[in-house]
Amino acid sequence: MLVWDSSYSVRVKEIDNQHKRMIDYINLLEASTRDADPKELVGRILKGLMVYTIEHFTTEEDYFRKFNYGKTEEHIAEHQKLIKELNNYVTQFEKDDAFNSDQFMSFLRDWLIDHIMGVDKEYMHCFADNGLT
Ligand SMILES: [Fe+2]
Ligand SMILES: [Fe+2]
Repeated sequence: MLVWDSSYSVRVKEIDNQHKRMIDYINLLEASTRDADPKELVGRILKGLMVYTIEHFTTEEDYFRKFNYGKTEEHIAEHQKLIKELNNYVTQFEKDDAFNSDQFMSFLRDWLIDHIMGVDKEYMHCFADNGLT
C-alpha cells in the first residue's frame, strides 16, 4: 500500500490533492486485484485511474502553458509515455486473464513516486513564482 508523505508535496494544494487521489486509486486497484475481485470491477477501477490520470496531466500541462514553463515539452513527453504504457496494460488486461498485476502495481507505484519526486518537483519554483499555492 502506498501512503502519502509530506515529502511528496509540490506545495500546490490542488495538485497535491490530485496526487493523493492517484495514490488512492492505485491502492484501490491493489486491494481489488489482491482480493481477486471480478474482472469487471478491477477493469472499472483501472479505467477510473486512467481517466483521472489524464485529467491530472491536463491540469499540470495547462499551468505549464499559462506560465510559459521552460520544461513544458519534456514534461508532456513524460506524461504521454505513461499514458501509452497505461494503455498497453489496459489492453493486456482486457484480452488476457493472466494479466500480471504485481508487475503492473510495482510499475505504477514506482512511476508515480519517481515522477512526482523527479519532474513534478522541478516545476515547484515556477508555479510558486506565478502565485500558485
Ligand atoms: Fe507531471
Ligand atoms: Fe503530477
